[in-house]
Amino acid sequence: MLKIVVCVSGGGTNLQAIIDAVNSGTITNTEIAGVISNNRNAFALERAKQAGIPAVCVSPKDYINRDLFNEALLKTVNEMKPDLVVLAGFLVTIPVEMIKAYENRIINIHPSLIPSFCGVGYYGLKVHEGALERGVKISGATVHFVDDGTDTGPIILQKAVEVRRDDTPKALQQRIMEEAEWKILPHAIDMIANGKVQVKNGKVVITE
Ligand code: GRF
Repeated sequence: MLKIVVCVSGGGTNLQAIIDAVNSGTITNTEIAGVISNNRNAFALERAKQAGIPAVCVSPKDYINRDLFNEALLKTVNEMKPDLVVLAGFLVTIPVEMIKAYENRIINIHPSLIPSFCGVGYYGLKVHEGALERGVKISGATVHFVDDGTDTGPIILQKAVEVRRDDTPKALQQRIMEEAEWKILPHAIDMIANGKVQVKNGKVVITE
C-alpha cells in the first residue's frame, strides 16, 4: 500500500481529484496519510477534513525565518511516514533537505507542457498568460519528479490540451485542470503505487 502525503496551497481541486480517484478505485493500492498546507485559508484543507483525512497547516508566517519553517515542514512530512509526497498546487520552494530525504519520491503537477512556460515565476495563472502571450496552439499539463531545480525533474506523464482562439488565462487554466491535471496526476500516482515507474539515467521509464 503506497502511503502518500499531499501538499497544497489553494483550492485543492487536484487534491479532490486524488481523493475521488482513490474512492472510485481509479487509484489502487494507495492511502492518503495526510494533507499539509502552507496557507491556513486553503479550501484544500476543508476538502481534506470533509474526506476524513488528517490535515495540518505549516505556515511560514508562524516561523521567524525560512530555515525554521523548512525544518517544521520536513518534520511534519516525516511524521506522516509517506512513501510519496504529492505537490498539488503547492506554492512553496521545497527545501533541499527534503529533496535529499525523498529523492525521486516527490512529484509535482505543473499546468504546462514542460519545458515550456515553467521555472521561476511560472505558477498559477502566469503559466497560462505566458502561453496565450506566445500564441501557442497546444498547451497542457505535466507530472514530474521534483529535483533541486524548479520544474526540472524527470517527466512522468504529460497531456496536451488545445488552446482556443477566444481563451482567457482563466478559461485555459480551467480546461487544462479538467482535461489534463485531474487525469494525469491520479494516473501517475496509480502507476507509482503499482511499481510501474522507474527513473533511469535521469529519465522516467514506465512499464505499463
Ligand atoms: C492549478 O492550475 C495547478 O496546476 C496549479 O495551481 C492551480 C490550482 O490547483 N499548481 P488546486 O486547485 O489548488 O489543486
